[in-house]
Amino acid sequence: MNKIDIIAGARPNFMKIGPIIHAIHRFNETASTPIEYRLIHTGQHYDKKMSEDFFEQLNIPEPHINLGVGSGTQAEQTGKIMLRYEEAIQDWKPELCIVVGDVTSTMACSITAKKEGVKVAHVEGGIRSGDESMPEEINRMVTDAITDFFFTTSEVANQNLKDLGHADEKVFFVGNTMIDSLLGNLERLKDPELELTKGKYLVMTLHRPSNVDAMKNLGDLLGLINENIKDHKVLFPMHPRTKKMYDQLNMNYDQLVITGPMPYLEFIHAIKHSMGVITDSGGITEETTVLGIPCMTLRDSTERPETVTIGTNEIVGTNPKNILPYLEKLLSGQWKKGEIPELWDGQTAKRIVQIISKL
Ligand code: UD1
Repeated sequence: MNKIDIIAGARPNFMKIGPIIHAIHRFNETASTPIEYRLIHTGQHYDKKMSEDFFEQLNIPEPHINLGVGSGTQAEQTGKIMLRYEEAIQDWKPELCIVVGDVTSTMACSITAKKEGVKVAHVEGGIRSGDESMPEEINRMVTDAITDFFFTTSEVANQNLKDLGHADEKVFFVGNTMIDSLLGNLERLKDPELELTKGKYLVMTLHRPSNVDAMKNLGDLLGLINENIKDHKVLFPMHPRTKKMYDQLNMNYDQLVITGPMPYLEFIHAIKHSMGVITDSGGITEETTVLGIPCMTLRDSTERPETVTIGTNEIVGTNPKNILPYLEKLLSGQWKKGEIPELWDGQTAKRIVQIISKL
C-alpha cells in the first residue's frame, strides 16, 4: 500500500509517529514505488507545550491537515474528529490509515476510516489493562475490533489478539516505536537546567482522573510523598488537567520542583538522570524500563505487563498510602534490576514500513 494517512492527536502519539515518518522518508530514497502519506493532526492536544514543541524536537514535519478539534467531553472529541476526518478521507481517498496508541483520536479515526472502506493499521495493537473505567481501554477495544493490520509491541499483545480470534496473518510483532524515538534521541538530550542533583531526585507525572480529579486524593498523595522523600527533590512537570486541581489545593510542598509540561528532550534527560520515577502514564513505564530507571505506577493495572515482569516497573495502586513501602525500597537502593523487552531495539518503524510496502 502506498497511499497512507498517519494519525496523531495527543502528546503520547507524537513520539510513536515520528519514527514511522522518518522511516518512510528513508524508504522513499531508494524505493521504485514511493509511499505517499498525509500526516493528520486531530488537534486533541493543541497547547504549544503539549504538541508543537514535540514536533520541533522530534523533527516531525508540519501536519498536512490539522482537524483542530480541541478539548471537550469524550463524545464531543470523538464526534468532531469523525466528522472532520471523514471529509479529509473523501478528499484524498487513502488506502491505509495508520493509528497509534490508545487516545480518543486513535479510536475516532479508525472507525471513520473503516466505514469509508479504508484499511486500518494499529500500531501498539492488542494491549489490554482490563480496566474498562479508563477511556483508553475502550479506545483499544474498539480500535482493535476493526483493525486490519496489528503492529504489536509484545508477545502478550500477540496472545491477546489470538485469544480474541484475530488471524495470525494480521498480526506483526515489530517492537515499540516509542522506543525508536527514545534510542534515536539519546545523543540529543537537553539538560533542563533545574536545581536538581544528578541521581538524587525523582520525577513524577500524574494526569489520570483517578489520581488528580479528586482534590483530597491529590493532596494526600503529594503530602505523603513530600514528607517521606527525605532530602530528595521530586521534579513534577504538570499536565494542564493536574495543574487545574493543584491550583485549588493552595498548598506548598517544599520537596516538589514544579514545572509545566516539559519538552521531550529535557524530559527524557530528567528521567535518565533521576533515581526513580512515580507516574500514572503507560508510555513512561516503557521508557524507564529501557533506561533501567526504577518506576512506580500509581494505577491498579497496566496494559504493559512486560514493564513489570521484565522491566523496572511496579504497580503501586491508587491508594496514596501504598506508596510508602515502595519509596522505602527505592531510597534504600533495593529496587529490582530489569531487562529490555524483545524487539525494543530502535528498529521498529523500519520493520513497519517494510511490511506496509508489501501489503
Ligand atoms: C490524553 C489521553 C491519554 C494520554 C494523555 C497524555 C485520551 C482518552 N486520553 O489524556 O491517554 O495519556 O492525553 O497527555 O485520549 N488540555 C490543555 N491543553 C492541551 C490539551 C489538553 O489545556 O493541549 C487540557 C484541557 O483542559 C482538557 C484536558 O487537558 O480538557 C484533558 O485533555 P484530553 O485531551 O481530554 O485528555 P488527556 O487527559 O490529556
